[in-house]
Amino acid sequence: MLKTKEEIENIEITQLLEAVYQIYGYDFRQYARSTVKRRIKHRMEMNCISHITSLTEQIIHNPVTFNDFMFDLSITVTEMFRDPEFYIPYKKHIVPFLKTYSFSNVWHVGCATGEEVYSMAIFLSENQLLKKTTQYATDFNDHSLKILKDGIYPMGEFKKWQNNYLDSGGVLSLSEYIEGAHSAIQMKKELSENFVIANHNLVTDKNFAKMQLIICKNVLIYFSSELQNKVIELFFDALVPGGVLCLGKSESINFTPHQDKFKTLDRDARIFQKEWSDNVI
Ligand SMILES: C[S@@+](CC[C@H](N)C(=O)[O-])C[C@H]1O[C@@H](n2cnc3c(N)ncnc32)[C@H](O)[C@@H]1O
Repeated sequence: MLKTKEEIENIEITQLLEAVYQIYGYDFRQYARSTVKRRIKHRMEMNCISHITSLTEQIIHNPVTFNDFMFDLSITVTEMFRDPEFYIPYKKHIVPFLKTYSFSNVWHVGCATGEEVYSMAIFLSENQLLKKTTQYATDFNDHSLKILKDGIYPMGEFKKWQNNYLDSGGVLSLSEYIEGAHSAIQMKKELSENFVIANHNLVTDKNFAKMQLIICKNVLIYFSSELQNKVIELFFDALVPGGVLCLGKSESINFTPHQDKFKTLDRDARIFQKEWSDNVI
């Protein structure tokens, strides 16, 4: 029997993702199909291509097209103090936990252009934790990591970010953390003194240090449930006993095979704590 248009498209998508993996080593095969399909359609429109197979051909023979496609799949939407209401439970659950350590590691996974990392640095600073914390910030998008490293952001966002900061429980003004703002915002250098910024692919790379806190927000939503499970296992291994995992608004470990290994500290703010017992497998 003849395949439907949708079935043929699915076969073409599988071939495209396999070619990307075989040739460039980036593994998008377990990303949520709906996201992949939307981004493929976007790239086809941009490159005036009518069939997925033609895009595959371009990607195989032209690394520039691959690069564009990779950036299409790296959805970098972010902001300072995103979901500001989350910071109130962060203060309740994370601050006392980190204060039990003389030094802590925090891992921002899929940090995009780094607004989340600077927000956490400000939060840590206001809770006297900044100097005793290393913040690892990773993403597979080098262009985004460069923006984080430079710490320069468009001025146009400032008013919204200032409101987010105040809604998060910030006690000063966001402008206290900025130097020389005209058309752009430059984050103060002391915030980033303990940043370790590195390219890391969550699908193919391994853990690199033990973490007291892992923040992975608005990344897992783009993954299939199998890939989400694999990544949560990676987080479980990276966390110290009692370590804390913060996910995004639409993400959870509940209803995954790993839910018994974590305690839910705040369901709404998506804060989970690895069980203290070493016996948890
Ligand atoms: C929507 S942004 C989230 C940014 C930030 N965490 C936040 O919540 O505002 C998703 C980020 O995940 C990154 N990402 C997607 N797949 C990844 C992977 N396999 N490894 C590392 N980063 C990935 C993207 O490059 C993008 O920067």
